[in-house]
Amino acid sequence: MKIPVDLIEKYNVPVPRYTSYPPANFFEANFGTADYLKAVTESNSEQPENISIYIHIPFCTQLCLYCGCNTHITKDADLMRRYVDALIKEIQMIRPLLDKSRKVSQIHWGGGTPNAIPSSYIGEVMAVLNSEFEFIDKPEIAIECNPAALNKQYIDDLASFGFNRISMGVQDFREDVLKAVHREVPEIAIEELVHMIKSHQGMTVNLDFIYGLPFQTGESFAKTIARAIEIAPDRLVTFSYAHVPWVKKAQQKLEQYGLPSADEKVKMFETSWAQMKAAGYVPIGLDHYARPEDEMSKALQSRTLHRNFQGYCTRETTGQVYAFGVTGISQLENVYAQNSRTVSEYLEHIDKGETLVVKGYILTPTEKIIRQIINEIMCNQYLSWTKIGDRFNLQPEEVKNLLNFSNEKLNPFVADHLLEYNDDEIIIYDLGRFVLRNIAAVFDIHVGDPNRKFSKSV
Ligand SMILES: C[S@@+](CC[C@H](N)C(=O)[O-])C[C@H]1O[C@@H](n2cnc3c(N)ncnc32)[C@H](O)[C@@H]1O
Ligand code: SF4
Repeated sequence: MKIPVDLIEKYNVPVPRYTSYPPANFFEANFGTADYLKAVTESNSEQPENISIYIHIPFCTQLCLYCGCNTHITKDADLMRRYVDALIKEIQMIRPLLDKSRKVSQIHWGGGTPNAIPSSYIGEVMAVLNSEFEFIDKPEIAIECNPAALNKQYIDDLASFGFNRISMGVQDFREDVLKAVHREVPEIAIEELVHMIKSHQGMTVNLDFIYGLPFQTGESFAKTIARAIEIAPDRLVTFSYAHVPWVKKAQQKLEQYGLPSADEKVKMFETSWAQMKAAGYVPIGLDHYARPEDEMSKALQSRTLHRNFQGYCTRETTGQVYAFGVTGISQLENVYAQNSRTVSEYLEHIDKGETLVVKGYILTPTEKIIRQIINEIMCNQYLSWTKIGDRFNLQPEEVKNLLNFSNEKLNPFVADHLLEYNDDEIIIYDLGRFVLRNIAAVFDIHVGDPNRKFSKSV
């Protein structure tokens, strides 16, 4: 795929990332704990019936300067112990609100760095989940790890707790890049860690990379991806570095080195895309890749791929998401809700026997339709108005009227050879994936609000 330069300039404008709809900066502070607890109870009669559990471990031992995640930098072992006790208490507080008949289909440990805490703590939480919940036949149990803090024993422990996917943040193999962004260089080579993981039957590996960091060039990133392909992970992600120094102050420090230009970033994207495709991987959305036999690739083929804050998921594992831990975001059918902002606030409230939700959002019926449309665009690169209408018991024309949508809004994308449409369908071409966020924004009734700021799309 070759992306023309004029297209990059044209579409490199601030747009939401659409990891949720409406985006997280719409969450409101007047949505509180009582609203969340009520929503949890009501979620028992909503679809999907499956339960997805998100556990947030905010701890990292040092801050990577590019980081956009919710982290708490510490090496305080006592604090980590108290945090895990609080997590267990929080799970036990929410559990009675959920119908016993509902099963867990997905558990995702994210961060921060979940493997910054001792593996035995993870085992304790998993034991609680196992005793409190029933699981579907093949649940997806995944964890995000920093390879610098992984070793054989830790991996063996994760396998024994039932994990079937370990995602490692590699970011880049180049030591000068890692040093510039203040990131530890792993002592055990990624190749070796992957080998240790794959020695457990059923365990799969995802590797995360970022392009757009200081010192990276099209050529150097191509070498990074070539090495990644040799490692043959089951999945791989190439994140475009999101530079938002007005939110994440530490990112400003990267500006001293100069950041790769939008053109250079596009080169990195194009080359890695071509490399991954040539190696037999299926591109998912803009930045994820999976083996053709992976259930994610199969879901894309049948146009049934979904997405939540934790990433892409299939129909089998998609559940309403119940988040535990500081800053965790629950994603129920009608509601988003975010937990306490800081570790001390979180511990204080859990100690008092209450969970704390600091902000959230109740979706309107129209927003639920838009969320579904944006999901189809971002995940399946395809939309059928009839299918959307069927899902919400509406005629296709009624859906379009609700969004004030007319086909003319898509004509600029058609002129740029990014998509095609007919009376019922919108089909996005490979090149269109590069501007998926821009295409999704056409259906977003909130776009253009001058009070909201987003990162640029490239
Ligand atoms: C929670 S981290 C993964 C686990 C572990 N903390 C680590 O860094 O290895 C999630 C991923 O988000 C990506 N990420 C973090 N900050 C980002 C940013 N500003 N722009 C794009 N991707 C980012 C990184 O690739 C990172 O691996
Ligand atoms: S990238 Fe990962 S290890 Fe680095 S600060 Fe962010 S969450 Fe922590």
